[in-house]
Amino acid sequence: MKLLITGGAGFIGSNFVHLTLATRPDVHITVVDKLTYAGNKTNLADVMDRIRFVEGDVSNPTVIDSLIADCDIVVHFAAESHNDNSLRDPWPFVQSNLIGTYQVLEAVRRHGKRLHHISTDEVFGDLELDTTDKFTNDTPYNPSSPYSATKAGSDYLVRAWVRSFGIQATISNCANNYGPYQHIEKFIPRQITNILSGLKPKLYGTGAAIREWTHVDDHNRAIWTILDKGKIGETYLIGTNDERSGKKTLELILELMGKPKDDYDLVADRPGHDMRYSIDSTKIRQELGWKPEFPDFRAGLFATIGWYREHEDWWKPLKAEVEATYAEKGQ
Ligand code: NAD
Ligand code: DAU
Repeated sequence: MKLLITGGAGFIGSNFVHLTLATRPDVHITVVDKLTYAGNKTNLADVMDRIRFVEGDVSNPTVIDSLIADCDIVVHFAAESHNDNSLRDPWPFVQSNLIGTYQVLEAVRRHGKRLHHISTDEVFGDLELDTTDKFTNDTPYNPSSPYSATKAGSDYLVRAWVRSFGIQATISNCANNYGPYQHIEKFIPRQITNILSGLKPKLYGTGAAIREWTHVDDHNRAIWTILDKGKIGETYLIGTNDERSGKKTLELILELMGKPKDDYDLVADRPGHDMRYSIDSTKIRQELGWKPEFPDFRAGLFATIGWYREHEDWWKPLKAEVEATYAEKGQ
């Protein structure tokens, strides 16, 4: 089987490449990645001799057409992924997430290939803090940020191409991921690397916003479950039911790193900040038999802290610039 993985040099995509090589000896992998600030070839350094790597932009039809012609299945991760960046400059999000997905869809249609589109729970907007409501397949889309609006738009494009042109596609929407190779602009690695750098962790607003955390390997196993058993045209929501406020998550990081639990700064909140995400993942659990395998969040977080401790060479060169960008906004 020939797999084309878009965005395979990013956080989730590179973990997907590693998982696939470890578990699917019959799969031949091509990665296409634009190598934006978030894409890092080092993420694939140990497996470069076992894959084909193409530096290229999915929104360029010339690049994507021949790659899709030459594969059996496309797993489409490539996207601009950080909400805070989308508030600073939405254009790259429109370009990669909307136009990029459009070009992938058109090539998939021309060549009759199977597509799995990776999306996010943020397409639904957010939930009230003091409820037990969850996002389901019936929840209307109501995105808040330019990032989530472009992801919602990309999902709509995929659905329209399935219905109008009969392409063979599935979609998944997962909640917040964590694990190795996550860019240090994101919440968990930013706080871990702040502590490792002697800086105080930074919590937006009062730290009340709630996220549901899924280990990246559990997300990627869910994607393989959909590739193996998913029904064409269907959307699957992926989540663990492990909901925590930013404050509780940060307190656990501080505890696991041997620091006092109040050793952080409260900083400016994110404009339009989504307050709570929570996923009803009954469909993928009951229909396809997926469930998370990582024992629990504490164990996953402990392992993730260990990875950042051991991979200072990977994140240290990025740290000063990431923090300077945040500092400009009082964050
Ligand atoms: P990331 O920012 O770490 O990686 C994105 C990768 O895509 C990078 O390697 C980047 O170079 C590449 N890329 C960006 N634009 C491109 C383009 N035009 N052409 C080719 N490559 C391009 O992001 P991530 O966290 O790994 O997210 C991957 C996907 O999963 C995204 O679609 C995101 O919306 C989705 N997602 C992420 C999470 C999460 O918690 N991180 C949760 C649910 C869904
Ligand atoms: O839910 C899935 C989404 O999760 C994905 O679609 C996105 O690609 C991914 O980036 C993530 O989005 P969030 O905006 O939830 O993730 P982020 O890591 O930026 O922030 C997580 C929470 O932590 C959020 O409530 C904002 C808060 N935060 C973030 C940073 C960077 C802080 O309190 N301090 C920080 O320094």
